[in-house]
Amino acid sequence: MPLITWGPQLETGIPTIDAQHKRLVDIINNLNDALNAGRRDEEMGAIFDELVAYTETHFTYEEKLLTSHEYDELEEHCREHRVFTDQIKMDRDNFNAGVWEFEQRFLDYLRGWLINHIQGTDRAYVPTLKEAGVE
Ligand SMILES: [Fe+2]
Repeated sequence: MPLITWGPQLETGIPTIDAQHKRLVDIINNLNDALNAGRRDEEMGAIFDELVAYTETHFTYEEKLLTSHEYDELEEHCREHRVFTDQIKMDRDNFNAGVWEFEQRFLDYLRGWLINHIQGTDRAYVPTLKEAGVE
């Protein structure tokens, strides 16, 4: 069973955003599967790199979109992104340096953060973007 099940409870109704969120869910699920299957460090590291890179791609996309639509809560939204990005980059760097190991609770942190962020912080911008006709 995947760690995160994609479904309507995670949709924003904006197809481009939903597709990007779904990809993040897939990467986290891949990381979880690899951890549970006892995959080697190189494989874990490759998926972790993919998570960091795609998280940055997605956040940049979202922030540009929110900036261009003069979203009220932009600053707070970006701050949440930054805290998460800083955390996973630090963990990734420590993993590569051999001083940090994957544990299930890290995967649970990723899951909890993404679900809360999508259902709370991201959903809050949906009316602004829908009103502006973003798809
Ligand atoms: Fe966001």
